[in-house]
Amino acid sequence: MTQDEMKKAVGWAALEYVIPYTLIGVGSGSTANHFIDALGFINHKLEGVVSSSLASSAKLTKLGIPIVDSNDVDSLDIYVDGADEINKYMQIIKGGGAALTREKVIAAIARTFICIVDSSKQVDVLGKFPLPVEVLPMARSYVARELIKLGGLPEYRKHVVTDNGNVILDVHNLIITDAVTLENQVNGIAGVISVGLFAKRCADIALIGTQYGVEVMV
Ligand code: 5RP
Repeated sequence: MTQDEMKKAVGWAALEYVIPYTLIGVGSGSTANHFIDALGFINHKLEGVVSSSLASSAKLTKLGIPIVDSNDVDSLDIYVDGADEINKYMQIIKGGGAALTREKVIAAIARTFICIVDSSKQVDVLGKFPLPVEVLPMARSYVARELIKLGGLPEYRKHVVTDNGNVILDVHNLIITDAVTLENQVNGIAGVISVGLFAKRCADIALIGTQYGVEVMV
């Protein structure tokens, strides 16, 4: 199986967790796109979807899936999204597609966070994938200096503006053994909008696409 076939397998496997006529959250990226494709087949049975990016919203709309504003919902039954790295504690790095802040909000609102990944995303220790941090543009240099104090090597993701009008710093050189502490530290830097570390609100279920089929981690 290719990596994309594994992504497709988990995207479609996640459909089993969708209870008809409930509200759900949907993430962004190539794996989440497979889930959106699957949702297209049950669009008439969906109460509404909160989307994590303009790109996902466009795809949902094209498939006739109703989009709802996160401000109009108290909770979501499930939130389904991909990841850039996941460890055995279901802590995650996200934000490769620059949608981390809206993804964090949706994860916070959802009762169950289902992470869908191919097996290449599984790691023992988080941090090989550079940690994305969404930053207010005028705070970029200050935040970069503070991230260096935490042991990281921040790199400005050039030519990228997030859906919220901000910029991204990708932090290299991190070996994240205490993800909750690092998440709190980065969130505490003035000018940080959010960090793509999902440790305090980690996944509840992970569907892992492997050569042998879809494995479920709970
Ligand atoms: C977007 C994300 C994505 O979920 C993450 O980058 C994984 O992407 P893909 O499914 O394309 O491998 O966090 O901000």
